[in-house]
Amino acid sequence: MIEEQGWARRWVMARMFGRHYLEKLTGHGYPRAADRIPALLTTHEKQTLYRLAGLTPERGCIVEIGSFKGASAYLLAAGSAGQSAAIHCIDTFMAENVVSSLGADTFAEFSHNVAPFYERIVVQRGWSTEVVGEIKQPIDLLFVDGDHSYEGVSADLRLYLPKLAADAVVMMHDSAHPPVAQAIREQVLPRETERLAKLPNLYAGRMGR
Ligand SMILES: C[S@@+](CC[C@H](N)C(=O)[O-])C[C@H]1O[C@@H](n2cnc3c(N)ncnc32)[C@H](O)[C@@H]1O
Repeated sequence: MIEEQGWARRWVMARMFGRHYLEKLTGHGYPRAADRIPALLTTHEKQTLYRLAGLTPERGCIVEIGSFKGASAYLLAAGSAGQSAAIHCIDTFMAENVVSSLGADTFAEFSHNVAPFYERIVVQRGWSTEVVGEIKQPIDLLFVDGDHSYEGVSADLRLYLPKLAADAVVMMHDSAHPPVAQAIREQVLPRETERLAKLPNLYAGRMGR
């Protein structure tokens, strides 16, 4: 009996180490299905979105500005899957600043791609500056990946940061893009209490009041 327990424990440990090193080598750690959705995200960025979504509390509120075809929404939903968080997806769904598909209606593709999480996805179709009033609950995780102009990203931060819950997580894609970097320096860093990831082009931090 004791010997059997020893083998069972060794098997569990071997699987844990195997998984850990596989993720380290491949950069994965999120459901592979997410890779089938067209996106401008690196593997490490996908991994980080998925991992940090896990910090969202039960019945929490995730807000994403810029959903495109649903890749990041899928990762945020999958990462918080054990919980019951709502994921508000804000987009005109007209590929506003996506050079490769400018002006294309991406809504049908988005809906198809996030279908496994249908019950927790709340679509807010429209301009981020106009639908902000639809977010009634304090935001536990804010992911900003919409308008990357200085005016656009500054306006998003000005409108959505006051809606954060205590100790909320903020992630900003294209954080190395100079206009986005400037907006982060001006509005996000003064509120940062903890840096949650160090990636070249994805900012992730926890905010204080
Ligand atoms: C870079 S894509 C988002 C990619 C997505 N986060 C992903 O990883 O798959 C930017 C999206 O933001 C949307 N967008 C840009 N400016 C916006 C705004 N002011 N309000 C709402 N949506 C906006 C565009 O329509 C586009 O779908």
